[in-house]
Amino acid sequence: MTTTPQLTHPAIIDATVAYVKQELQGAEGGHDWWHIYRVWQQAKQIALHEDVNLLVVELGALLHDIADSKFHGGDEELGPAKAAAFLEAQDVAEEVTEAVTQIIRHISFKGGNHARTYWSPELAVVQDADRLDAMGAVGIARAFNYGGFKNRPLYDPAIAPDMQMSKEAYKSSAAPTINHFYEKLLLLKDRMNTPSGKALAASRHAFMEQYLEQFYSEWNGQAK
Ligand code: ADP
Ligand code: NI
Repeated sequence: MTTTPQLTHPAIIDATVAYVKQELQGAEGGHDWWHIYRVWQQAKQIALHEDVNLLVVELGALLHDIADSKFHGGDEELGPAKAAAFLEAQDVAEEVTEAVTQIIRHISFKGGNHARTYWSPELAVVQDADRLDAMGAVGIARAFNYGGFKNRPLYDPAIAPDMQMSKEAYKSSAAPTINHFYEKLLLLKDRMNTPSGKALAASRHAFMEQYLEQFYSEWNGQAK
């Protein structure tokens, strides 16, 4: 009896890269193929220091934003379903497919209010890599790109994060992109999972703080 040989690790990765590039054509600049590429490279680096299944890490990184619910009417099962269909067509082992779809489902776990319903060392690595891409120089570029996509102001001293506006007033205003730093980007360093992820996050965090300081001094004509 002959069985079809399963694809090798590099062949599966090549096929997945081609699939993801094709699926993400025309995606908004912060969620495009190059976001995936950076998360993939970063995840591989972090994985060097962790005891993980590298195929699961790489596929999780490559497929984690294959159908972001933000851009698909809030449908949170579309991404996992698309990834599963693709991986099954490649004859990828069932347990690998299962681990990858769980990463896609749980990578955006916000911390705080939601119970952690799934955890794996591979999810820890991919989540760190995804969070790192929202920090530092690239993270700043992505935030302003997203704000531009939503036609938001860069900064507005009247809607500044330290203004203590009421929640209602804040929600009805077009929150400036600078506010996003205080709502999310500056909180990320305390949400990292792995030691190497934490170290990278610390330096990207320091860079963002320095950036904000420069931003405010330029805003007020006081930059050197
Ligand atoms: P993830 O893809 O990691 O789950 P998001 O989709 O929330 O995270 O964010 C993706 C990118 O878009 C990040 O770089 C994030 O900073 C940026 N982004 C999300 N929401 C905003 C916002 N309100 N203003 C500026 N940037 C945003
Ligand atoms: Ni992402």
